[in-house]
Amino acid sequence: MARIFASVINSLSLILTLLCTNVYAEPLTVIYSGNLDGELEPCGCTVQGDFGGIKRLASVLDQLRDQRPESVVLSSGGLITSERVIDRIKSEYILKGFAALEYDAIGMQWQDLSYGLEFATQFDLPWVLGNGAHTSIARVQPVTRSIDGRYIVLKVFSWLGPDDSPTPEMHADHVLVHADSEALLGEIRQADKQGVVTVLSTSLSLATVQKKFDLEAIDILLVRASYETYGEPRQVGKTLVLQPGSRGKRIARVDLETDGEGDIRQWEHKVISMPRSVPDAPRMNAWYDEYNAELEQDYLKRVEIRKQQESGAVNFSGEVSCKACHSVQHELWLRSEHASAYEHLESVNKAYDPNCVACHTVGFNKPGGFLDKLITPHLTDVQCESCHGPGNAHVQSAGRQPLVNRLWSKERMCAQCHVKNHSPSFSMDTYWPKIAH
Ligand code: HEC
Ligand code: HEC
Ligand code: HEC
Ligand code: HEC
Repeated sequence: MARIFASVINSLSLILTLLCTNVYAEPLTVIYSGNLDGELEPCGCTVQGDFGGIKRLASVLDQLRDQRPESVVLSSGGLITSERVIDRIKSEYILKGFAALEYDAIGMQWQDLSYGLEFATQFDLPWVLGNGAHTSIARVQPVTRSIDGRYIVLKVFSWLGPDDSPTPEMHADHVLVHADSEALLGEIRQADKQGVVTVLSTSLSLATVQKKFDLEAIDILLVRASYETYGEPRQVGKTLVLQPGSRGKRIARVDLETDGEGDIRQWEHKVISMPRSVPDAPRMNAWYDEYNAELEQDYLKRVEIRKQQESGAVNFSGEVSCKACHSVQHELWLRSEHASAYEHLESVNKAYDPNCVACHTVGFNKPGGFLDKLITPHLTDVQCESCHGPGNAHVQSAGRQPLVNRLWSKERMCAQCHVKNHSPSFSMDTYWPKIAH
């Protein structure tokens, strides 16, 4: 309550100053946050760590918008990560939750593309990628507000460092960014000349941005988030440099005064933390329940697969167990690309994307098949059993029990994975000789 009161006083005093100093002064409130880094909610294991989360963020934003409906709400992105298998579900709900928060612009960071472009853009989010070359992501997000009968226009740009891509080889398949910072700067300068408040969001540090960009035309610069707590804002030339805090623990509000030409004259900054005492927004309840229900479904499915794995009813045994009796075939297989299929997935940071894993491992989503590298290290890569079928019974019977896919044609085996969009030049005549055994 004291906080709300204090900020009301702040806004009042700001408005008063504006009225007294210059008739053309235009007040503008910008609310901003930085990397969420996959923190849909705080774990709440300790009171000290219990800050943030999307449900509290929703109620704080609702409250701030009640106070100043024309506030502009920005995020520098970095919403999701893909560290664990379950992160995909969480990531989906983070994006869905953020869609309900109605941000005005969200800078796109590489980690937001952990599951590909289609995944990131599945909900109606105002992503911006200033140096992107994909028509499905905006290169600029214009934000217009009518304040006291006058229009204020912001243009939000972002810069995604091409060299920081975790998946350089996959550029063509995922997101293409161009390295030409001059082109982006040209667009920013143009906007600045039109009297627009220009914003650049990036995950680079201030020092790196300064090397790359002339800040002259940038009114507000959002730089790489610092861990949890917000950095002190500062003025560099005429640019207001803001450094958000990460992990969604806090949100900040800056009350600005622009000169009517889009340049910032004064600002007042305030960080709002979101401890346990901040209530969850009831409007997010359905979303949260749905998220938990989906996690539960996924958990139970995994338990089921593990149970089957442990009961050994249907099983994959892994290439090592075939080696003993089929050393010649094993030797040939080791030299094929199939034996590095998982490593190649890891090298493009896609080992936790179920969309990819299925064709680069053995028996994914099948009883006794690949779960993850720690639980089933013997089932990475495309192996003997990817083509011949689960071979445990065959191994246990010293080869007497025939392989499950014994009656399959070669074509049918290959077609499990060599489908048109993943292997456009596949032909049996050229491919089989490379792996013949
Ligand atoms: C203990 C020895 C042994 C092990 C271990 C073994 N096999 Fe065999 N395998 C045999 C023998 C013996 C035959 C020949 C059976 C026949 O021709 O009736 C055979 C035949 C095959 C054949 C050709 C016939 C068919 O059923 O399609 C394939 C393919 C095969 N094995 C794959 C595998 C794979 C894959 C593994 C590992 C999961 C494996 N084997 C492990 C002994 C073994
Ligand atoms: C339907 C099966 C399938 C899926 C799904 C799949 N791949 Fe592949 N992948 C293949 C096949 C087949 C090849 C070999 C293509 C060829 O050489 O003809 C391949 C090759 C690759 C290579 C090696 C490229 C090279 O130049 O050596 C990488 C890396 C790769 N895939 C990554 C991925 C990623 C990332 C995903 C998920 C976004 C994915 N794959 C999903 C089947 C699949
Ligand atoms: C990409 C699919 C694929 C993989 C991977 C694969 N095989 Fe095969 N394998 C085949 C096909 C197809 C045939 C049948 C070849 C034919 O009809 O000429 C075959 C034939 C065999 C045979 C029959 C005897 C022979 O040499 O013709 C054995 C044994 C065998 N494979 C064992 C293995 C073992 C062991 C591994 C793993 C080390 C393995 N295969 C990996 C597709 C595969
Ligand atoms: C379980 C999925 C799967 C099956 C089944 C499969 N492949 Fe593959 N194949 C892959 C993947 C994934 C790669 C890419 C490996 C890499 O480089 O990462 C690949 C790569 C290859 C390559 C290397 C391509 C190159 O550019 O050199 C050949 C050749 C190949 N497969 C032939 C076959 C043939 C022939 C069959 C059927 C007998 C077959 N594969 C069945 C998934 C599969």
